[in-house]
Amino acid sequence: MLQVQGLTKEFPSPAGPLQVLKGLSLTLEPGQAASIMGPSGSGKSTLLSILGALDAPTSGSYTLGGENPYTLPAGQLAAFRNRKIGFIFQDHCLLPQCTVLENVLIPTLVASGGDFIQHANELLEQVGLSARAEHLPSQLSGGEKQRVAIARALILKPQLLLCDEPTGNLDRRTADSITGILLDQHARQRTILILVTHSERLAENVRLRFELLDGRLVDKTAAE
Ligand SMILES: Nc1ncnc2c1ncn2[C@@H]1O[C@H](COP(=O)(O)OP(=O)(O)O)[C@@H](O)[C@H]1O
Ligand SMILES: [Mg+2]
Repeated sequence: MLQVQGLTKEFPSPAGPLQVLKGLSLTLEPGQAASIMGPSGSGKSTLLSILGALDAPTSGSYTLGGENPYTLPAGQLAAFRNRKIGFIFQDHCLLPQCTVLENVLIPTLVASGGDFIQHANELLEQVGLSARAEHLPSQLSGGEKQRVAIARALILKPQLLLCDEPTGNLDRRTADSITGILLDQHARQRTILILVTHSERLAENVRLRFELLDGRLVDKTAAE
């Protein structure tokens, strides 16, 4: 379960502290998916950084699976992030010199246990890229690269999958296919899925819908 309570985030600025998140709360159970929309600059990426154990909040509490990453010793924070959280960004961030299969395996380099190569191959099959395992990212289309990024985000079976504008750079048809793959993987793995998007079409696919406005999440689910 993901639990956020009274989360605030301030950034220093010459004009005084910039309050981006102002007491935000959110609870999601395993298997739930939520979309977050909101104007540019409203703090969506800031929120994902906090949930992704990349940047500590100014105040408030956050637990994932009962653990607060920000109370862990520094050495354990990276392991928490690697083990429990998958990220998918607008830009796929693949390593250009590594093959598709190697890119999917990157998170496993610092993890132990499991037959990761077999799992990577299964994921590549599920995202329709079995035939591309030995190709380099430069040989793939934008949609194919994003599918590799999805497989990489899922290789360690994360509890939480964070997507920041995952289809922002793709044409409509490719975006729809990526959305389908994301939701299919979410359903298979029962991860918690959080989807930040500007796209109504993408948000429509997810049952819980929020808007980030004035530093808080407004529940838009009931408005459907
Ligand atoms: N590291 C940072 N230092 C200072 N200001 C930041 C930093 N990160 C984000 N901001 C500011 O916080 C606000 C929210 O940014 P962001 O979370 O990227 O919004 P969104 O993803 O919704 O477009 C913006 O005003 C941005 O300039
Ligand atoms: Mg953003």
